[in-house]
Amino acid sequence: MRPLPNRVGPSLRRRFVALAAGLALLTPGVAAAQTDPLAPTGRWSANTRGAAPVPPMGWNSWNAFYSDIDEEKIMASATILVDTGLAARGYRHVNIDDGWWLKRRQSDGRMVIRTDNFPSAIVGPGDQTSFRPLTDRLHAMGLRAGIYSDIGRNSCGQVYTPNFANQPEGTVAEREVGLHGHVDQDIRLYFAEWGFDLIKVDGCGIRGLAADTDHVRQDHYREFPPLIDMNALGRTDIAAVQALYEEVGQALHDHNPDGDYLFSVCLWGSSNVRAWGKNLGNLSRTSDDITPQWTRMLTNLDTVSTRALYAGPGSWNDPDMLFVGSGDFDAAHMTEARSHFALWAILNAPLIIGYDLRKATPEQIALFGNPGLVALNQDPAGHQAVPAYQSSELQIFVKTLADGDKGVAIFNRGLAAIETQLSARHLKFRDDAEVSLTDLWTGERQTFTGETAFRLEPRQTLVFRASGARALPDGLYVSEVPGDVNPAEDGVTTPQHDPAIHRGVIGWQGTRGSGEHPQYGGFGGAQADRSPFGEPLRIAGTRFDSGIGALANSRLEVRNHGYARLTARVGIDDSAVSRERPVTFLIYGDGRLLARSEPQAFGAAPQALDVDIRDVAILEMVVRAEGEAVAALPVVWGDAALLR
Ligand code: GLA
Repeated sequence: MRPLPNRVGPSLRRRFVALAAGLALLTPGVAAAQTDPLAPTGRWSANTRGAAPVPPMGWNSWNAFYSDIDEEKIMASATILVDTGLAARGYRHVNIDDGWWLKRRQSDGRMVIRTDNFPSAIVGPGDQTSFRPLTDRLHAMGLRAGIYSDIGRNSCGQVYTPNFANQPEGTVAEREVGLHGHVDQDIRLYFAEWGFDLIKVDGCGIRGLAADTDHVRQDHYREFPPLIDMNALGRTDIAAVQALYEEVGQALHDHNPDGDYLFSVCLWGSSNVRAWGKNLGNLSRTSDDITPQWTRMLTNLDTVSTRALYAGPGSWNDPDMLFVGSGDFDAAHMTEARSHFALWAILNAPLIIGYDLRKATPEQIALFGNPGLVALNQDPAGHQAVPAYQSSELQIFVKTLADGDKGVAIFNRGLAAIETQLSARHLKFRDDAEVSLTDLWTGERQTFTGETAFRLEPRQTLVFRASGARALPDGLYVSEVPGDVNPAEDGVTTPQHDPAIHRGVIGWQGTRGSGEHPQYGGFGGAQADRSPFGEPLRIAGTRFDSGIGALANSRLEVRNHGYARLTARVGIDDSAVSRERPVTFLIYGDGRLLARSEPQAFGAAPQALDVDIRDVAILEMVVRAEGEAVAALPVVWGDAALLR
């Protein structure tokens, strides 16, 4: 069995953190050991490379055609994007997924395109091929071009859907079309030479080619000792997976001197990508593949909906591409299609159409182009919606917009109609002042004070733009601006999946095996307005509707856009199981210690912190726990607010 050398076991790490905590309290500031993950850095560490100020929009071939692709199909959808005005609305990426490759040329390792399907790629005799003619055409149409590869030697199609069309051909070596061993060569080819603007990098080649698989036993492909075990994080070599993706990130940086590119990390939530994907990719998949089934859509939704703090300008959560147009989201199911689209829009998912647009109805085109929903998704502030109400049947998501308005989606997951109440408090507006709502489906306007009621049909989503008087008049709660928060260290030492995540059928696997075990190990991650395990925030019986819930031994980076004060009431969350360890809350500004709480024990009343942050660009909110942990320790930054 392959050794897994590079994970620091939780108890070792705990001991280190405790030691570092002691040291840092004696000598606060950047002086703390560089390897102490809680030491302030004065930096924003989430990804800023590439060009993803807002979620990418466009089209991808996979959900529409799987790997049965050709130039005609791709250009047809590209043309329709332009002709219908969808491109002008923002749908500019045209991404070729699995199925474009023929082989890797053995004389020089250069990738060869399947010219039977992409005739414009013939640029000379024999196997001289280039996508430049195709990307030139797309660019001339005002579009952008995306390509697809795998981090291993072999592709997802080869490993999991070898019966699908257009698998690579030739010898074992010629069929090694993935990036492994060719990262710099391939990225240079795809970007510098062929002119692509985006790459999606899958991870099947480092997952499905163990010595005992049929593929390897029958000599279809070389063995690749798996780095990823989809069902066991403990048997996943997280550091090795991360290092391979970092190599791609570096090559993209090197071969795109203008920085104008997108890196789509496709690890389906495995490999603890929840913690590091945001530092590397412009988008990072949180779940296995979406299928055109309602329940699968719910699974993918659930893997992003509590991750608002883990996304923002530069790096977005990716619940996978849209399936509007097919199956449960087809033209006969526009309620479901609208819900799927609206949820992706408000949660800042990339809006990547996965439909053969030649078949699209005017109503479907209008849905993709809905100006209010696109604006919600593309809002420049980049704050993912936060759940304001959660239940198995109904969810309310609220998103803070750049101009202070709120987007709100009220979503009926179930099969029965529901009476719902939306209150001003859900929106963090005053409940004694008028709130005005614009319905983004109908354009109708209405007002209410306090609360209002709606009836939702099965699977329906209502979406509004709301304006009103802010409950916090002179600033914002930190939880309202999740795009400005980066959980650099979220304190999760033993990643586990969220038990509340709906489990769907995986399309290509069907119901063989024992069912899905969601890979997104995000349970216990930092959350807006909730404890890391989804409870309401509470310190010694005092409840906070606003605040940040995190685990002890966490460090959150916060961008300060000109605010003068940071205030919070802090303490250990009442949901804590491990009660014997006190914690200390520390606030740093550009690496300097600005405030430190008294050690807070379980059950102690909230302690108020009020810090001058004028001229500070990057705040760091750190919580250190003393001693050995017996269990994860939830803590509360209650009412944490940035004030003028
Ligand atoms: C994986 C990805 C999909 C798609 C296929 C192609 O399953 O998650 O989005 O790219 O591979 O084979």
